Amino acid sequence: MNGTPVQVRGDHPHLLSALREELGITSPKDGCSPTGQCGCCTVHIDGKPVVSCQQPLAKVAGRSVLTLEGVDAGERQRYASAFAACGGLQCGFCIPGIVMRAKAQVDKKGADLERSDMERHLGAHLCRCTGYVKVLDAIECVAKGTECAPTQPGGIGSSGVRYEAEELALGDRGYVDDLRVPGMLHAGLRLTDHARADIVRIDTSRALAAPGVTAVFTAADIPGELRVGIIYKDWPILIPEGGRTSYAGDVLAIVVAETRQQARAAAEMVDVEYIVHPPITDPEVAVASASSKDIAVWGTDSNVLSVSEYRRGDVESALASSAHVVRETFQTQRIEHAFLEPESTLAVPDTERGTMHVYSGGQGIWDDRNDIAAVLGVERDRVTVELITNGGAFGGKEDMSNQAQTALAAWLLQRPVKCTLSREESFRIHAKRHPIRMEYEAGCDTEGRLTALRVRAIGDSGAYASVGMKVLERMAGHASGPYRLPAVDVRAVAARTNNPVCGAFRGFGANQAQFAMEGVMDRLAARVGLSGWEIRKRNVIHPGEIWGPGQRMDDGCLGAEACLDRIKPAYDAAVAAGKAVGLGLGLKNSGLGNGFREWTGAVVRFNSHDNTVEVRHGWTEMGQGINTVALQVAVEELGIEPSRIRVIIDTTRELGIGQTTGSRGTLMGAGAVKSACEAARAGGCQLDVDYLGEYIVDWTQKLGTVENPTIHSTFGYAAQMVVMDRDTADIDRVVAVHDVGRAVNPVLCEGQIEGSVHMGLGYALTEDFPHDPSTGFPTAAKLRDLGIIRPKDMPEVEVVLVEAPQPNAPYGIKGVGEIGLVPTAGAVAAALHELDGEWRTVLPMRPRGGSDD
Ligand code: FES
Ligand code: FES
Repeated sequence: MNGTPVQVRGDHPHLLSALREELGITSPKDGCSPTGQCGCCTVHIDGKPVVSCQQPLAKVAGRSVLTLEGVDAGERQRYASAFAACGGLQCGFCIPGIVMRAKAQVDKKGADLERSDMERHLGAHLCRCTGYVKVLDAIECVAKGTECAPTQPGGIGSSGVRYEAEELALGDRGYVDDLRVPGMLHAGLRLTDHARADIVRIDTSRALAAPGVTAVFTAADIPGELRVGIIYKDWPILIPEGGRTSYAGDVLAIVVAETRQQARAAAEMVDVEYIVHPPITDPEVAVASASSKDIAVWGTDSNVLSVSEYRRGDVESALASSAHVVRETFQTQRIEHAFLEPESTLAVPDTERGTMHVYSGGQGIWDDRNDIAAVLGVERDRVTVELITNGGAFGGKEDMSNQAQTALAAWLLQRPVKCTLSREESFRIHAKRHPIRMEYEAGCDTEGRLTALRVRAIGDSGAYASVGMKVLERMAGHASGPYRLPAVDVRAVAARTNNPVCGAFRGFGANQAQFAMEGVMDRLAARVGLSGWEIRKRNVIHPGEIWGPGQRMDDGCLGAEACLDRIKPAYDAAVAAGKAVGLGLGLKNSGLGNGFREWTGAVVRFNSHDNTVEVRHGWTEMGQGINTVALQVAVEELGIEPSRIRVIIDTTRELGIGQTTGSRGTLMGAGAVKSACEAARAGGCQLDVDYLGEYIVDWTQKLGTVENPTIHSTFGYAAQMVVMDRDTADIDRVVAVHDVGRAVNPVLCEGQIEGSVHMGLGYALTEDFPHDPSTGFPTAAKLRDLGIIRPKDMPEVEVVLVEAPQPNAPYGIKGVGEIGLVPTAGAVAAALHELDGEWRTVLPMRPRGGSDD
């Protein structure tokens, strides 16, 4: 092992387990063990790269294993510098494995290593953040020996390296599952066998008698609240005897043992007696059910989670008098986030003080703190939740997954407990992207100017509320895309079913709506005889005009037309070259809006003991770069060295307002840190003083309260163009022109967009997370079942940043987290139509057959 002979126990299921759990070697990450599908655990055995979760110990005995910990210091630095300098990582979870794969190729081929070769070798890896462009740039740098020294970030607008980039690249910056504390136990979860079943009896005796087991807990052991939830408290952390399950991810018992293997094995020995009911899995059937016996979700009284609707103008007569009318029904699919780091929580009680410290990778640690305290039945100030920068989230870590169960076990035992989900458990438990059925009816005049739009939509929200009602509200609000429309009539229903829970996922309903709206725009363009670009130009929203739900747009919306104008030369050139070209235009709000008062705080503190400057903010770093943004604002405002800054996120200060969601972290986080820096400057930057700053958005209005409500404070805009080769039917190129208001860090900003385009192409073409309607259970259990696009199948992506500043926003920032995949599916559908004349209505548009594709 890294040059030293070692002996390990023989009971590990694979080499990765021995490395991480016994030898404390944590640079190889566990993204999917034992399935061998993500590449995060790649190490070298006798010089060859292999995924260590697929290596039985017997096969490794007597051979030479190398991990990043054992690589020569100079070489480590070369990789770390290259990935940092090129922006070749975001959450970083996949990178140590990729570095080991790259090292094998660079060792073999040196400067002769071709980019296409490396793309092929990366087929054994998944990265959900970067879109691979900058990953390949970094590997090329090392292979060619190009000078690529990372530069520290300066103030706003500089492209310095990501906060902690080098440590992340080498796997040295720990994630929750990398943490170990003395006396730590491991928890495993017993999940339900049926999506809708009465729980008659839970028998823990066999599990309790299993080797290494310390305790088994059920709902009967909860001292406080049974149910948690971001908006509605409807999600039971454990289903009790006498209760009923509502989806495949429901938890029945927590088993705590000395090792993870023991805990997981014993969890399967918890015996459960059920009365099984047929699951309600069709959202239309669910909302049509009137009888109380047809309620899908235990503890609720309706299968209608929410109805979002608004009307402006006389849609009926506008459609009747339109020169052209298009009617189409679109259906989008359920999607799994597939962040590379499965959910993990470590809870450490302090018996003397009667408190508990929880390490979480969640997207809303103040919400987590409040719900955990409620479950334990204690005051909030006895629970601290500390964010450990996570390995990707994309909305999928907004709801608690295992935080409450882990905290409960630790609290009851008064010992540290860690629980890490397997990939299959992660699939079953956390919320997905909503499948939505959308009926669109839109008209235009003879010039192609939109006259009216009617939309009826139903989204399958699965069992528990999560933020499903807000997703359908956002889908409804964004139904008309970034266009001017005199008459609109929209109704969107969120249905409760026994399918996987659906909630937040990058784009939050805007993707679904704008796949449909862009499809409608292209159909109308064809009727009128306009190009895709021209019809968008004729209808794009301008300042002072009324958008969708009635909002009068401000100068921020200049970005929409700016993106269209900027993409025109490339669009014209591709059309002239005979390519099949599709264009999409989109917008995505930043912030919660809808009359919600959004507050966030930040603290700046000059520490006397070590000369560091603490910057505390309220947002979850999940690869998007909010910690780097916070650092850059502090550098900009205080003129201090970036190396002095430590960014901290925990609940020891009240800085949070809920979830890191809605593309608002950069906008609001920058505003709050700027305000804290101003307070520090005004106060003379005294040592060991908390300087508090805040950023508030309290000027949005709820739909229906005034004639033209300001639903959202800010929007980001993008025009994306997909270029297809008519002979091969492959996508050659994607051009993504994005208005971000102000690019705080252009390289990081580009990386966000490249990763979004990768995700957006998967959404458009291949990704799906199907379920069995007879059971409500997902039929995908492995990462390769999801249809995520591999590096060799990614087209060239060209990102162009446009800066049309948002009035009243700090530095003009708009937010870029979600908009990157909003126009993509529409652009792909248009390109495919150019190719073969077929209009597409269903996602994904090129579904793949299964694991081997
Ligand atoms: S953890 Fe081994 S390949 Fe994913
Ligand atoms: S950087 Fe690759 S998964 Fe996040």
